[in-house]
Amino acid sequence: MCGIVGYIGWREAAPLLLKGLKRLEYRGYDSAGIALLNHNLLVMKQKGSVSGLEIAAEELSADMKAAKVGIGHTRWATHGEPSDMNAHPHQNSAGDIAVIHNGIIENYSVLKHELIVQGYIFSSETDSEVLVHLIDRIWKSDPSLDLESVTRNALRHVDGAYGICVISSREPDKIVVARKGSPLVIGIGIGEYFIASDAAPIVEHTNKVVYLSDGELAVVKKDGYVVKTIENVEQEKVITELDFSLEKIEKGGFEHFMLKEIFEQPAVMHDVMRGRVRLEEGRICLGGIEDYLDRLKHAKRIVICACGTSWHAALIGEYLIEEFARIPVEVDYASEFRYRNPIVGVDDVVILISQSGETADTLAALRTAKEKGALVMGICNVVGSTIARETLCGMYTHAGPEVGVASTKAFTAQVIMLYMLALALSRGRTLSQDEIALNLRELSRLPEKATRILELDSQIKHIAEQFKDTRNALYLGRGYNFPVALEGALKLKEISYIHAEGYPAAEMKHGPIALIDKDMPVIFIATRDSTYAKILSNIEEVRSRKGRVIAIANEGDKEISRLAEHVIYIPQSSGPITPLLTVIPLQLLAYHIATLRGCNVDRPRNLAKSVTVE
Ligand code: G6P
Repeated sequence: MCGIVGYIGWREAAPLLLKGLKRLEYRGYDSAGIALLNHNLLVMKQKGSVSGLEIAAEELSADMKAAKVGIGHTRWATHGEPSDMNAHPHQNSAGDIAVIHNGIIENYSVLKHELIVQGYIFSSETDSEVLVHLIDRIWKSDPSLDLESVTRNALRHVDGAYGICVISSREPDKIVVARKGSPLVIGIGIGEYFIASDAAPIVEHTNKVVYLSDGELAVVKKDGYVVKTIENVEQEKVITELDFSLEKIEKGGFEHFMLKEIFEQPAVMHDVMRGRVRLEEGRICLGGIEDYLDRLKHAKRIVICACGTSWHAALIGEYLIEEFARIPVEVDYASEFRYRNPIVGVDDVVILISQSGETADTLAALRTAKEKGALVMGICNVVGSTIARETLCGMYTHAGPEVGVASTKAFTAQVIMLYMLALALSRGRTLSQDEIALNLRELSRLPEKATRILELDSQIKHIAEQFKDTRNALYLGRGYNFPVALEGALKLKEISYIHAEGYPAAEMKHGPIALIDKDMPVIFIATRDSTYAKILSNIEEVRSRKGRVIAIANEGDKEISRLAEHVIYIPQSSGPITPLLTVIPLQLLAYHIATLRGCNVDRPRNLAKSVTVE
C-alpha cells in the first residue's frame, strides 16, 4: 500500500520525486524517502509526511540537487512501525545500492536469518530490507553480473508480492524495476522516463504509459527501456494513453474512496490471508500471537472490546470463536467496558479491535484490561498505532490505508482475522484436521466469491434508485448475519443520513414490527443456513404488513423471489463465511443510496475517521 516514484532523464530528479510522492500520499503516509544518483548514491528518508522530507531536501548538496536519476517512496507500514530507519529506500552496507519496495515479502524472516548468519547487518525491522542485502550478496559472489541480473536472481529467492525499484552507483545510468502483485507503471517522456506505483505522479508529465505485468522486470534508461519476464524473455509492451483526471487516478478511477475500498476487498482478502492461511499444510500461521497461542487456547474467557464497525466485527468473532474453539466470548463496547468496573483477571484474554489503533475508548479499555492483569491482544490495521504498541501481542489486518470514513475493507479484514484466530485456537482441540482443512478451503475461495458479488454493482444501484427517498430502513438477519444487519444499518445511516436499524430477525416481533407499513424497506439477509426457514416466516410477516422486502439470498434460491420485491443473489458458502459476503451488497446499497441523495460519502457530516477523543 506504499507509493513508489522514480525518474531518469534530463531534469533535476529531487523536486520531481518529491512532487510525485505528494501525489501518492493518499496511499500511505507514515514516512517517506528518496535516493538520488549522481556518481554517488545518497539516501534521505524520515518518519512523517512528504512535506517534512521536502524541508530536509533543501539542505541537499549542489551535486545531489543536480542528480538526474532517483527513486522515492512513501510508506504505509506493514512490518515495523513508522520510523526513520524503517522508511525506504533501504541500502546495502557499502551504500552503493538502494531499493524501494511495495508489497510484502512473505519469506523475509527465513531470508533475513540466512543473511544475518552470513554477516549482514540489518538497520530496519522491515521485510523489504532483505531485498537490498540479497542483491548485494549475489553481486559479491559474481561481480561480473550487471544490476539487472543480480536483481533478477535476488527475486528468484523471494516469495510474496512486490513492486520494486533498484538503483546503484555502480551502474548510474539505469533504474531496474520489477513487479509481482504490486502495480508499477512506466511513463514515457521525451528523453526521460517516470516510474510509479500508479499513474497519479506521472499524468502531469506524460499521458503515455506502459503497465508492467506480474512477473516482469524492466531496465529503464534515459533513452529507452526494455521489459523482460523474470525468466529473461523480452516482452513487447503496448503503450497506453491516459485520459484520466488526477483526482480520479488517486481514487483508482472510482468516484469515491469508499467505492474504491469496497472494490478492493477481494485483494484485501488475499492480503490478510497471505502467508497465514497455509492451505497445503492445512494450518493457520499467525506470527504475531504464536508465542501466546497456548495461553489464548487456555483462556477462561475472551472479551472483545471495540467501537463502531470494529464492534460489529467483534460480534462475528464471538460467534466464530465460540463455534470453532468453544471458548466463552463476551463482546463489549469499549466505552462501556472502561467505565463499568469489569470483572477480568489473569485467566482472561481481552482482544481490542481497531482499524486506526487510536480510538480513545478502545485504548482506555486496553489499559483497564492490562491493569487487571488480562492478556491483551490487538487486531489493528495501522501498523505502529498506539493500540498495536500497547498490546502484548496481536495481528495486523494488512487492509491498507482506509480513507473513506465509513469503514468497509477494514471490516472484512477484521472478520477474516477473527476467523483465522478461531481456527488457530481450535487446532488440536475442538476441530479435526479435516474440519480445519475444509474451513481453509472456504477461506481461500472467498476473494473469488467477493469479486462475483461486486459484479452486481449496477443491479444494486438500480435498487438504490427506488429506495433513495426512504426515511427509514430496517435490516434483519440471524446468526452470523445478525451483526451484518447491524453493520448494513450503520453504513446506511452514517453516509446517507437515513434512519436505519439492525435487529436479529426474531426480535422483529418484539417492537420493530410496529413500524412496518407500505413505506418501510426491510432488508433481509436470508442465506441458506440453519435459520433459513425462520427467516422466510419473518419475510412473510413483513409482506403481510405491506413492507417492501429486499433480500440477500443464495444463488439458485427460487423460493425467495416469490416473496421479495428485490433479491440480490450471492454465491453459496458455509455459514461462518457468509458475513464476509453478505456485507458487500449492503455496503454497495448504502453507497449508492447516499450518492444518489447527493451526500459526501467519503466525509459524512459530524463523523471522523479516527475518534481520538471520548
Ligand atoms: C469511527 C469511524 C468508524 C469506526 C470507529 C472505530 O466512528 O467513523 O468507521 O468503525 O470509529 O474506529 P477504529 O479505528 O477503532 O476501528
